[in-house]
Amino acid sequence: MSKVKSAFFCQECGYEAPKWLGKCPSCQSWNSFVEEKIEKNSSVKSFSFGDQKSKPTRIQEVEQSEEFRLQFDDKELNVLLGGGVVPGSILLLGGEPGIGKSTLLLQIAITEKRKVLYVSGEESDKQIRMRADRIGIKNQDCYLLPETNLQTILNFAQEIKPELLVIDSIQTLFDGNLESAPGSISQVRECTAQLLRFAKQTGTPVFLIGHITKDGSIAGPKVLEHMVDTVLQFEGDRNHLYRLLRTTKNRFGSTNELGIYEMLGVGLRAVANPSELLINQDNQQLSGIAIASTVEGLRPLQIEVQALVSSAAYGTPQRSSTGFDAKRLNMLLAVLEKRCGFKLASKDVFLNIAGGIKVDDPATDLAVAMAVLSSNADLAIPKTIAFAAEIGLSGELRQVQRLQSRVAEAEKLGYEKIIVSRQGKEKMEKNRQIQVICCGKIEEVVRNVFG
Ligand code: TYD
Ligand code: MG
Repeated sequence: MSKVKSAFFCQECGYEAPKWLGKCPSCQSWNSFVEEKIEKNSSVKSFSFGDQKSKPTRIQEVEQSEEFRLQFDDKELNVLLGGGVVPGSILLLGGEPGIGKSTLLLQIAITEKRKVLYVSGEESDKQIRMRADRIGIKNQDCYLLPETNLQTILNFAQEIKPELLVIDSIQTLFDGNLESAPGSISQVRECTAQLLRFAKQTGTPVFLIGHITKDGSIAGPKVLEHMVDTVLQFEGDRNHLYRLLRTTKNRFGSTNELGIYEMLGVGLRAVANPSELLINQDNQQLSGIAIASTVEGLRPLQIEVQALVSSAAYGTPQRSSTGFDAKRLNMLLAVLEKRCGFKLASKDVFLNIAGGIKVDDPATDLAVAMAVLSSNADLAIPKTIAFAAEIGLSGELRQVQRLQSRVAEAEKLGYEKIIVSRQGKEKMEKNRQIQVICCGKIEEVVRNVFG
């Protein structure tokens, strides 16, 4: 006889307690405990990867093996995964609803020429077929399974022996041995553990889709992120075309990779030359626009920063920012007030990063400040100038990482000038076509640009 037991779990971090608690002792979040029934079933097998008992071995004596990786047709994805997917690894794809998680994995399932089992707990097979028809089915060996029971899924997976197993989504699965609802901490954890065991024992890579919570983290315990080998985050604005796919964890590669996709009527396409697309190419001179040379991951990216400054219509001036940290904007405005006589208290400021992209690269600071000043004075910044510097509290320009690649990208895209910090000037490569202007303070930049 199995014993039914219940316990309380923190929905933030997965901490287990025998009674309800107001505050989690582990992650300090308030009011996060939910009761979940758990059944201690003695028939549930304990973890083991094969029969062999493991024993400690000297590191030099461990057999070296050239890691085999499955390559996809989608080059962008191969790069993101550090050169392909490692057999037996588990990948978690997170992102907001409607961003294209299901589309991306379905696209892989139906365009790669290998046997794939696509399990969906969210859509029926007919709905998936409709979506697949839009993208175009190229794979003869893609199986669909609309199912949420983990045992059934594992049985079919063992029978079909796919080369890739896709689960959409981990929050819809349930294990019949547990009584708690699908999506609860214990279900998510147990289902992931079993899929992990399946992946390791059969060498099948498993791709999981994970929902995210309001604050953008993957729903379910952090444990989930610890359990999987790779975490990919899909970012971007679903009303815009562009989607950024970022590796936030990768046991088999670097986490600095970034893929840029475009959502078309026929699925997602990797964007080869994002900078050109992100910048409005017409040559009109408009005020309030500045080009930032940013780096996302390892990838240099030119982005357009747009600002609108107008007299405050109501008593309290409004500050609004899309794609850029609002606190950072306020700080920059305060610096501008002190250094450049920008009258903060009587102006509304709206800031937007074009293309629906979010940036957190500090090198965007200078372009933000210049866009604000340009809109305020209604003077256009020549379209041939790019900016790359962080701004300190006293208005000084600070050095940024990977300056060479920023300069090289701006040069490649035909910019004539790039304004950077004076610090690190010695390290600059000489004889470039682009003119690199080194400034020490924001006032110098203003003089340089507006004369
Ligand atoms: P979806 O992949 O279901 O997002 P998620 O699984 O992350 O919730 O939805 C992607 C959105 O993209 C959806 O609103 C429909 C749209 N879409 C296209 O624009 N083109 C396409 O070819 C497809 C399949 C979807
Ligand atoms: Mg979906």
